[in-house]
Order: sequence, then C-alpha cells, then structure tokens
Amino acid sequence: MCGIVGYTGGEQAKLVLFEGLRRLEYRGYDSAGVSIISPKGELNRVRVVGNLDALGSTLATAELHGTTGVGHTRWATHGAPSEENAHPHHDCKGDIAVVHNGIIENFVQLRAELQGSGHVFRSETDTETIAHLIEENYNGDLVEALRRSLKAVHGAFAIVAVHREHPGLIAAARRDSPLVLGSGEGEMFVASAVPAFLARTNRVLFLQDDEVLSVTPDGYAISTLEGETVAREPVEVEWDLDAAEKGGYEDFMLKEIDEQPRAVADTMRDKFDDSGGVYLEGLGVTAEEARRLRRIVVVACGTAFHAGLMAKYLFERWAALPVEIEIASEFRYRNLVVTSEDLVVAISQSGETMDTLAGVREAGRRGARVIGVCNTVGSMMTREVNCTIYTHAGPEIGVAATKTFTTQMTAMYLLAMLLGRLRGEVSDEKYSRVMDELKGMPDRMYEVLEDDAGVRAAAEKYHGCEDFLFLGRSVGYPIAMEGALKLKEISYIHAEGYPAGEMKHGPIALLDENVPVVAVVPRDSVYEKMISNIEEVRARGAPVLAVATAGDDEISQICEDVLRVPATMDMLYPLLTVIPLQLLAYHIAKSRGCNVDQPRNLAKTVTVE
Ligand code: AGP
Repeated sequence: MCGIVGYTGGEQAKLVLFEGLRRLEYRGYDSAGVSIISPKGELNRVRVVGNLDALGSTLATAELHGTTGVGHTRWATHGAPSEENAHPHHDCKGDIAVVHNGIIENFVQLRAELQGSGHVFRSETDTETIAHLIEENYNGDLVEALRRSLKAVHGAFAIVAVHREHPGLIAAARRDSPLVLGSGEGEMFVASAVPAFLARTNRVLFLQDDEVLSVTPDGYAISTLEGETVAREPVEVEWDLDAAEKGGYEDFMLKEIDEQPRAVADTMRDKFDDSGGVYLEGLGVTAEEARRLRRIVVVACGTAFHAGLMAKYLFERWAALPVEIEIASEFRYRNLVVTSEDLVVAISQSGETMDTLAGVREAGRRGARVIGVCNTVGSMMTREVNCTIYTHAGPEIGVAATKTFTTQMTAMYLLAMLLGRLRGEVSDEKYSRVMDELKGMPDRMYEVLEDDAGVRAAAEKYHGCEDFLFLGRSVGYPIAMEGALKLKEISYIHAEGYPAGEMKHGPIALLDENVPVVAVVPRDSVYEKMISNIEEVRARGAPVLAVATAGDDEISQICEDVLRVPATMDMLYPLLTVIPLQLLAYHIAKSRGCNVDQPRNLAKTVTVE
C-alpha cells in the first residue's frame, strides 16, 4: 500500500504535493519522490530513500518549479527501498512521470516485451513498466496512451501520470486500488485517499474500477477503458483529518481488520504462474531438493509464531513433512541439530524482530536453507535469508497484528501446497480444489466482516470479565492462541489459548461462571471432539462463546453466544475464524476505554532481545 498524489492548479506543486504526501505517510514510508512539469516544459524529479522528512529536506533546496506534478510515498512490494526504485518512474526520454499503488501481476512479461522494443529499465519495480507502456502507446494524447496501456496490464493499480508536453493535465486510472479526486477552486487533486487534500477541499469523487480520469485545474472527465463517458459529481465529506487518515475508521486496527480480504488477495496476486501453479519468486527449490527435505523448522514470535503453528498442520498434511515450530527466543538455546536437509522458515511482518533475526542467523550458521515470510521489503531479515516470500498487507499501523497475520497464513498455504506438489504428495485434483477454495477466501472473509453485530453484542456482554480461556483443536488451536493474544494485548484482560483436549489436564480448574470460554468450533473433522470439550466447560458453569460454521444449529443449543463464519475446507478455516476473535478483542478493548492502536507496554516491532 503506497501513498500517491497528483496536483494541477495555480500553486507551486512542490509544496502541495509534499503536504499531501505527509498526510499519506501512514500508507508507506520507505522512500518518496515528486516529479513536476517546469514552466519551460521540462519534467524535473526528486526521489529519496527514507521517510518524508528526508524528502522534505531535499525539496527545501531543490529548484523544482511548476504547478503540475505527481508525488509518491512508497511501501515497497517489488524491489528494495532505493532511489532508483522510488517513484515517480519516468519513461526512457523523461517525458512521462508515473506514480502507482498496487501490484502489476504480469510486469515481468511486459518488461521483457518492452525491453525487446528497446526500452531501457532502470529499476526493479513493476511500476516502471507502466511508464514505458505509456511511452510506447503515446501519440500526442496522454489520456488515450494510458487507456491503451491499461488494456495490457493485469493486477491492481491506482496510477497517476503526467507528460511534460501537457502542463496542467493529469491522467489517472484505477483497478482494485483506491483513487480519489479532490475538486478545489481552480485546482484539482488525485490521490490514494482523502487526507492528501482534505485541508484544501472536502469535495471528493471516488473513482471506480477500470475508470480513466482526465484532470485539469478547472475540470475533469471520467471514462471507461473502452472510452465511454461516465458522468459523476463530487460529494462533500465531513471527515476531520484524523478520521480521514484512518479512512473514516475510529482506529487503524479496525481499518486493518477490514482490509484483510484485500490484503489476502494482494498477497496471492503475484504468486501464481501462467499455468496456475504456485510461483514463489526466488524460492528455487527443485522437486529433487523438495523430496530430499528432512524437516521444516519454523522460527517466529508472537502472532507470527501462531501463523507458523497453523502452518505446521499444513506441512504435515499436504507435504508429508515433519515440522519443528520454535519460539524464536528459545530457538537459539536448543541444541537443535539443523542441517542442509532442513528448510527453516522465519516469519516476521517487520523483518526486524531481533529474536527472529537471531534464529535466522543461527540456522544459517548451521547450513540450513532459510526462507523468510515478510511484509516489509528491504528489512533486515530479507537481506539475511536465502529468499523471501512477501506478504502484501501494506503498512500495519496498529500494534496488534491483524492483516499481517492472515497474509502470513496465506503465504504458508501457498508454500505448503508448493512443497506438497514438488514432493508428489498432492494430486492435480486436490491442488485445484484447494487453490480454487483459497482464491475464494477474500470473498468469504468479507462475509464474516459484514456480520459485526454478533461480535459487538458478545463484547458488550463479556467486557467486564477478567479471565478468558480460548480453546481450539487442529488448526483451530493456533487460532485460539491468536485470539487470546489479541485480547490480552489490547484490553489487558488475562486470556489463555489452549488445545481443547488439554483443558482437562489443568486449566479446567479455572472455570466458573465468571470465566468465559471462547471455542473455535467450525464444522471440521474435530467438531465432535470440540462439542465434547464444550460440554465439559458448560458442566463447570462457564459461559461459552463459539465461533462456528453458518447453518450449524446444533452449536446454538449448547452455547450462549455463537459467531458465524461461512463453510469452507478444514485447513482454510483459520482465515475466517480468526476474524471474529480480532473483532471481539477490538470491541472489548474499546468498551474498556483502551487505546487499541497503541496498547500500553507494547511496541509494533521488538528490536531488542
Ligand atoms: C502481535 O499482535 C504483536 N504485535 C507481536 O506479537 C508481533 O506479532 C511479534 O512481535 C512479531 O513481530 P514481527 O512479525 O514483526 O516479527
């Protein structure tokens, strides 16, 4: 997720663009830049690595005049943070500047074709492909060149472009990535989100998928990819700036919970080849090497550890591989004999968690191949592992991990399935069935998010309790652990996640009418066992809140409260069952007046051991 801004009007674009980017910094902050059309018709650019402070100090002294331009603050998805990879990207001749938010799925093929036509690329990004495509299609009309270019593009994009021969004109388009027009007095803005220009106008128009926008200081025109005119008027939004940065949400955490379907879809977007097979760039494990693998060792902390714990079931079931799952801070004290026949998977959304980095280094020292699963391009971990599988959750501002968790699990589904295929453990039929279901999960996640009322009622009912027990079996057990972690870290309530079958070996002593039990009990292969455990809980008088499959009436007979998720495959339920638990933690914490985005004692990234 990046922040993009375009401006055309009567003021110096440098100042307006920087102000707009500053308001979008929460969307990405590893590099930034602006390109502006000068009064002489040149296209001048400034790009820096680092956050917007770095760009601000450079712009302060840069000779960058003109009233039409584009700006970008980056959250890298392809290509590490560097000046060359920073946006805006120009075409070969430096006539066209493009900024982009999204993922171009077929950029490798497009890049090869353009290079074959003589285009010279200077960055590793997918975005630069767009600048050269527009150049290839340009014959005096920028908007038409953009329209033609988009017909070749697959994937998600919000694009804003300018051409030095057209001062005053901005061309823009979107698909699966937000873009909004800000309509001012004699000036216009095009941006990823409203905060970029809210200080100057609250008249906004949200572009829809596959719409193309042509903007000048005094007006705009919308059309479809086929060139048909679209008539739509701006509306006035009443947000204050803080609300606008959260997209109208009260907290980043709730916004990020709601972003999960898109984040999961974006994470899958660049991980399939043209034949529909799982493609994990840089993994480079051959079928022979996969068959020789002795074991998977997963190293992670906190929520990332729970993603690994869930993946343990996948590697065992789909790839027939034994799995060691290690809390990173303990990993290095184990005399764990790790060899080149082991595959170590380190999971870290930040890529900067010191405990996990220590585990990565220990595994590398012992000769193991180490894969990273990470949300932050260019982070320390990505520079120390053999290859990185990137999640595309975008920046996660809330301290409590939500969308980074479901995207980590998504990455693990793909890795486990790929290894299973390479090892000959997964048939074509099973592969197709699982992958089709996985690709449909964002839609099912939206369904869960729509039914917020049940969660709010449960939160209202239980927010005064001081102890919770979360129970699950199989892949539901890591979800129970994650639900307990969410609750304790943002509401400060004591909560434990436990394997449901283990409860009778001790924790059951905790139960009475004041200790709610949250049971992760979808209609899967361990459902009957979970029902037995729920009966044990009820016999002790503890109230039970179940996360269950829609249409399961039996569970309503034995549980006080039931939160519903759509039916899916056993192994895929975690992408759904975790959402009610995230929302439960959020609403309980809000009921208790807690600061959910910045909980006490916690940091988003723990860079100390
Ligand atoms: C989870 O909500 C916490 N923020 C914390 O447990 C986090 O998952 C852990 O610190 C690991 O962070 P990482 O993914 O950046 O390595």
